[in-house]
Amino acid sequence: MNLRYSVFILTLSFFVMTFYACQHEPVETINGNNGGGNGNGNGNNSLPPCDPDTVYFEQDILPLFISNCTMSGCHNSTTHAEGIDLSSYAAVMSSNVLTPGQAWNSELVEAITETDPDKIMPPPPMPPMPASQINLIKKWINQGALNLKCDNGCDTTNVTYNGTIKPLLQNSCTGCHNTSSPGGGYNLTNYADDAVGNFGVQSSALNGSLSGSVNHTGLYSHMPKGGSKLPQCQLDQIRIWVDAGAPNN
Ligand code: HEC
Repeated sequence: MNLRYSVFILTLSFFVMTFYACQHEPVETINGNNGGGNGNGNGNNSLPPCDPDTVYFEQDILPLFISNCTMSGCHNSTTHAEGIDLSSYAAVMSSNVLTPGQAWNSELVEAITETDPDKIMPPPPMPPMPASQINLIKKWINQGALNLKCDNGCDTTNVTYNGTIKPLLQNSCTGCHNTSSPGGGYNLTNYADDAVGNFGVQSSALNGSLSGSVNHTGLYSHMPKGGSKLPQCQLDQIRIWVDAGAPNN
């Protein structure tokens, strides 16, 4: 009799605990989602749509810093060469490299537009930043160097190499994967492999390393190196393009 009673109580408490566990679950999920936002995800209703005249730190500027400046030995939170750390908004703002509203009066702009090879950033053999990226950084500073992000309505219906993948790689990857510094033997500035045999974008897509490295799967190094994972919508765009056979379109 006693034994049956204990079994009954045990069973009852199991159900009660399960009930409470289930009740609490949705609350935790919601908290998790709120805390885990990583920028320009598609369909994030809490973000304003991107305005083409505004420069957004999160999606326009931070990827350029990660790709051109924060590699090991340079301007990241561990090595912060010359006391400069460009790996997050807070770090950039406390590194004393810019004057909000005054690109002309900002050490950062001076460094990336320098012509003296001993002073220019990123230093040789890394290539100078392209004019389009320099202008974006200047515009961001002139707009007040704000910490803005937006919903770029990232499009997964019409994904092409030239319209989608190439600009994505230029924004987040080619600072470390170009002709003069092909990280890991990958030169992602062109579709084809380069003249000295570094993998181009097509080969990276077809050999699985592009998807593996950006999704952080398998034994691949996690990319972008030292930065946070690409937003889900960009991962979707890469998957869609790779699944289509990585066409040069
Ligand atoms: C800050 C520099 C940096 C950035 C930014 C970066 N990479 Fe890399 N990447 C490297 C280095 C260095 C390696 C060589 C392996 C290592 O050191 O982890 C590498 C390796 C790779 C590999 C080979 C991975 C493997 O395990 O074989 C691929 C593919 C790759 N990167 C793709 C990308 C893509 C795509 C992006 C942009 C989304 C990117 N990388 C951004 C520095 C970078």
